[in-house]
Amino acid sequence: MTDSVAQHYGNDGIVSRITSALEEAGFDTNKLESDVFAGADEFHIGGRKGSEFVANALNVQSGQRVLDIGSGIGGPARYLANMLSVSVEGIDLTPEFVEAAVEITEMVGMAEQVSFQIGSATSIPFDENTFDASAMIHVGMNISDKGLLFSEIARVTKPGGSIVVYDVIRTGEDDLVFPMPWSSMPKYSFVDTVDSYVNAAKNAGLELLTVDDHAEMAVSFFNNPPAETPPVNLGHLMGTRMPEMFANARNAINSGTISPILLRFAN
Ligand SMILES: C[S@@+](CC[C@H](N)C(=O)[O-])C[C@H]1O[C@@H](n2cnc3c(N)ncnc32)[C@H](O)[C@@H]1O
Repeated sequence: MTDSVAQHYGNDGIVSRITSALEEAGFDTNKLESDVFAGADEFHIGGRKGSEFVANALNVQSGQRVLDIGSGIGGPARYLANMLSVSVEGIDLTPEFVEAAVEITEMVGMAEQVSFQIGSATSIPFDENTFDASAMIHVGMNISDKGLLFSEIARVTKPGGSIVVYDVIRTGEDDLVFPMPWSSMPKYSFVDTVDSYVNAAKNAGLELLTVDDHAEMAVSFFNNPPAETPPVNLGHLMGTRMPEMFANARNAINSGTISPILLRFAN
């Protein structure tokens, strides 16, 4: 039974599944670098490519403080910290994901720069104007109240701060078939249109800068397996449910029903 968002994602043994696979692939698990986790810890369309889009879109200076909303097991947070020389704080609803994020971050020696805690995107556990910038990657599909979501993002981000949302957005009319990677059932799936995101963000006082639809990358991500098989993959994160979820998402991408879209705002 996965009758909540956190129960959909949460599962036992995430870090040991990933490290066993890395060991089998010949890695010394006492000397792991953050990039080797990329196939399993970047849980969004495009994997590393998607994290690159977000890093390129965030307008930050080195040393600044960035919030990652719905940080999963921390792949994007570690990548942003490495690429942009910022400190990143992640919040996530799923306790098992937060535990794994902390463990992997310690394993790769990044605990001073990157931290995680349990927290909800609709009640962000930080004071107003705490962060220089905020990122949210493939999380809004689980959140019904986009207005509350954006008002919370606006509240904790400093005035003028950069806000990047890279989400699965509805671009067609067909029904979605479940399980999807973000929900086993329609009850916790709130995939919505660009207009709905933009209206909610504008009502929260954000200024829309750009909208980029990465449909072409998504078709390639779902239909062309990588030339070299990565040592770990999303199956190590989500378990045996992943292939069916991936196939349903691929069909929805191929039919143009959903697309990964990056929205860039200023607070
Ligand atoms: C598809 S995963 C993406 C994880 C991560 N952003 C990444 O790209 O690797 C969605 C994440 O959003 C989290 N999440 C869903 N709803 C949330 C909410 N209301 N508040 C905080 N986290 C949430 C889930 O627990 C999960 O870790």
